[in-house]
Amino acid sequence: MNHASTSSTPSSRPKVLLIGSGIAGLAATLHFSEFADVILLAKSSLDEGNTRYAQGGISAVWSKNDSFEEHIKDTLVAGAGLCRESSVNACVREAPHVIESLIRWGVEFTKTEPGADETGFFGYDLHQEGGHHKRRILHMHDSTGLAIEEALVQQVRKLKNVTLLENHMAIDLIMDGKLEHKNRSRGMDLGKCIGAFVLDCKSGNIFPLSANLTVIASGGAGKAYLYTTNPDVATGDGVAMAYRAGARIANMEFMQFHPTCLFHPNAKNFLITEAIRGEGAVLRNFKGEDFMKAHHPMGSLAPRDIVARAIDLEMKRTGEPHVWLDASKITHFKEHFPQIYDFCHNLGIHPPQDFIPVVPAAHYLCGGIWVDDVGNTTVEGLAAIGEASCTGLHGANRLASNSLLEGAVFAKRIAEWAKKSLLQRQNQQSQENQREARPLPIWDFGRAVDIEEQIDIAGTWREIRTLMWNYVGIVRSDRRLKRARERLALIRHEVNEDYWKFKVNRDLIELRNLLTVSELIVECALRRKESRGLHYNVDYPHPLELELKDTLV
Ligand code: FAD
Ligand code: SIN
Repeated sequence: MNHASTSSTPSSRPKVLLIGSGIAGLAATLHFSEFADVILLAKSSLDEGNTRYAQGGISAVWSKNDSFEEHIKDTLVAGAGLCRESSVNACVREAPHVIESLIRWGVEFTKTEPGADETGFFGYDLHQEGGHHKRRILHMHDSTGLAIEEALVQQVRKLKNVTLLENHMAIDLIMDGKLEHKNRSRGMDLGKCIGAFVLDCKSGNIFPLSANLTVIASGGAGKAYLYTTNPDVATGDGVAMAYRAGARIANMEFMQFHPTCLFHPNAKNFLITEAIRGEGAVLRNFKGEDFMKAHHPMGSLAPRDIVARAIDLEMKRTGEPHVWLDASKITHFKEHFPQIYDFCHNLGIHPPQDFIPVVPAAHYLCGGIWVDDVGNTTVEGLAAIGEASCTGLHGANRLASNSLLEGAVFAKRIAEWAKKSLLQRQNQQSQENQREARPLPIWDFGRAVDIEEQIDIAGTWREIRTLMWNYVGIVRSDRRLKRARERLALIRHEVNEDYWKFKVNRDLIELRNLLTVSELIVECALRRKESRGLHYNVDYPHPLELELKDTLV
């Protein structure tokens, strides 16, 4: 790419910088490209991210037997009193339109057999997952994310006014001015975001990109934990960058642990979809007991926080390294779950006859960059969508399959908002005959030298992830959280030194971001003096009646 073209020279169309190419970034690109020039960054290949691995599907009221009110109710119940109702309403009510757009863009959701549609599913097969009282999950067998990712990537590649930069990583946001902000929460001057510094991961070059609007769509942060369903790119970069720029961050204590990640030495991060439990599979302990019955009336299909905690308790109580998923009642396993069937068979596990060994693992970040009802952050010129954002949809616990939906809904919302406000601003500026374009700052390497082999990035990363798993996991206590805070502070000291001493590469940037995200999780967890949704602290085992609010840093 010609980096000279990235200075802040005015053009007739607004310039939008999108950081991340999962469902949120890709859908936003498709909407923004109607009126703006878009630069889309992906720090790995375009199709790599959490979206690609989504199995269960995307929720929407799609059956005659369902209603918006019921989907709203299930979302609110899972969210344990902390959902923002405006966000829940928007996502649930806009879901059918968003599904229609995905179908128009080429996503092929699994259909019902011809003539088998007595249930009123309008031609599409619907799954059910934990916390949902109705079948409302559209899916592509058990590879829904891949189907969405591939279709949207194909659409985006056709667009002329979109520059795709794969293997390019945003390092930090570029801020201009020192605007006072009414919502600012820390003692720092906020400026307007005018773009980002970007690392070309292959050449090591760093250059600035300017934009009228920068949109963070960089996904989650599962890699802060030793065991996770997330791929390697999920290091919370967007949250960390926004935090450094002074944006408000919310509810980081609500890390969702998925109850059923495959337990096998040769399988890394492989999810066993909740939809299997929706089809009748049951969790069992080593004695073969259906232990979930004692924890919740919905048994194995209870909301995720309850199931993950019950498994954790069962494993601690029995000393066993995992529990079992018994899918033996499912007659059509191979047809419905072909990816899981093949993956397990390759490892010598033969569902549905064989029980599948499963454990909980970090899965989804419910908190993130605080945004309003269209996706704007508390910093001017900066928006956030998808898993990196905190829209209030999930509250203290996300209802299954609501996150692909949230990414697609907010991609559309922010583009609609920007179409009005950016175009209006652009027109005003051209009427005033434009101010002089200001040169962007350049990245200052200072006295940084090439990274020496003896700095152990992988070792520090492992230390953080192990610490987070052991001290800030499914069940927490103040003593353990404080211990984690102390240890992270020591690591922070070392990482800060290395960060400025060496020329940054992707590993070092990710380490710094992962550390920030871990510190934010611990800080938020210490501030919440109650147990609610995904956050369970043995020192405050009950929810507080009067303190229903977000944890803001
Ligand atoms: P992602 O899809 O994670 O994309 C993030 C993008 O940002 C990537 O392109 C990445 O390269 C890029 N990026 C990150 N940092 C930078 C940087 N610094 N610079 C440049 N680019 C960067 N949700 C559901 O609703 N239904 C499901 O069935 C479901 N199943 C799931 C199964 C698994 C195994 C996992 C891990 C998650 C699942 N989820 C599911 C959650 C859901 O997939 C994610 O929440 C959602 O896909 C997030 O989309 P996103 O666009 O926000 O981010
Ligand atoms: C799953 O398929 O179990 C994951 C669904 C989700 O995370 O929403």
